[in-house]
Amino acid sequence: MKASVMKPIRVGLLGIGTVGGGTFNVLRRNQEEIRRRAGRAIEVVMVADLDTERAKQITGGSVEVVNDARRIVSDPSIDIVIELIGGDGIARELVMTAIANGKHVVTANKALLAKHGTEIFRAAEDKGVMVAFEAAVAGGIPIIKALREGLTANRIQWIAGIINGTTNFILSEMRDKGLDFDVVLKRAQALGYAEADPTFDIEGVDAAHKATIMSAIAFGVPVQFDKAYVEGITKLSATDIRYAEQLGYRIKLLGIARRVASGIELRVHPTLIPATRLIANVEGAMNAVVVNGDAVGATLYYGKGAGSEPTASAVIADLVDITRLATADPEHRVPYLAFQSNEMADTPILPMSEVTTSYYLRMRVADKPGVLADVTRLLADASISIDAMLQKEAGEGETQTDLIILTHETKEKHADAAIAAIEALPTVAGKVSRIRLEQLK
Ligand code: HSE
Repeated sequence: MKASVMKPIRVGLLGIGTVGGGTFNVLRRNQEEIRRRAGRAIEVVMVADLDTERAKQITGGSVEVVNDARRIVSDPSIDIVIELIGGDGIARELVMTAIANGKHVVTANKALLAKHGTEIFRAAEDKGVMVAFEAAVAGGIPIIKALREGLTANRIQWIAGIINGTTNFILSEMRDKGLDFDVVLKRAQALGYAEADPTFDIEGVDAAHKATIMSAIAFGVPVQFDKAYVEGITKLSATDIRYAEQLGYRIKLLGIARRVASGIELRVHPTLIPATRLIANVEGAMNAVVVNGDAVGATLYYGKGAGSEPTASAVIADLVDITRLATADPEHRVPYLAFQSNEMADTPILPMSEVTTSYYLRMRVADKPGVLADVTRLLADASISIDAMLQKEAGEGETQTDLIILTHETKEKHADAAIAAIEALPTVAGKVSRIRLEQLK
């Protein structure tokens, strides 16, 4: 049948906030081109939002607005449900009901998929419906498409991404202005860059949700958010950012998924990156992901990781995919997590103690003979090799100074042991500040 004569595909939208509003507007603005691409018109016919007045304003009275999302997921005339509610409470129930009712689902909900993806994809597979989630990782960047389709020839070695705009904005400001975390966070909130409750962003949880989803697609393992190592940026000091810069590095909150002989590293933490790498220069609220595949080498994806129309761009790409593929035999569609569901590997996600990385260590030491020798001996005892060192002259009248050491790669458990021993030295004051370092070669 010609595209122009096929019936429009009918979409129900759950939540018309920032992303939902963008989706509605972009769909309307570009409807003709989208129809020509999808082969059928895509029409939002029903919107559910608790704020029905705002929903009516956005939609201009052209679609039915309800305040009960359950009406949409149980309406037999709806083909695709877009879930933009977020979280894994009511959103989970609605997605599962939509699937049970035979509807395809588009979602931007990374928390939901990182935690309950296995259950959701199994239910969708049983029902023969699609669950698409491009918007869940890095907003407008088509990273899911790249990983799941564009790079299928490759054995993917590692992924490293700046996948949280809020924290990248804060880190950029800290470096630019030499300010501490708390000060910049307050400014970011005042400017609307950070949520009133920014916990998920600043503690690394949001990035870990996204890294978890990418790890599953890259390595053909189930989503396992509970096994991810998660460390945010709340303890980073402007001092460390400055020292890192003097040594030729930038500090970024990276989401890393890496295949090693014994398993998969899945981790989010502040990371030193050589300042010469492209990804080290991604500033402000932008996102970027480097994917390293054995055939293609390193590839970099850059763009807006959040916001109304950038995220809508990803949501609508999923709508078009579903519209194109809805009539295809489910077994011959692109698999939810890239690998066929009966071909999932049981490669373990490694505990953090088994992860291999390099370190930046900063300590406050007594400025007297033998201190440096003691510290380096403890590192040598743990078989940790030193890559670079920086010692500042003690300030006028001070008896202590900062000692900064960059190490070569070692296992986290060896670093833990060496750091504990260094902190026990009477000549070392307080805690060692430790930030992981990746060359991303
Ligand atoms: N809160 C996220 C960020 C955007 O700051 O990047 C949505 O994933």
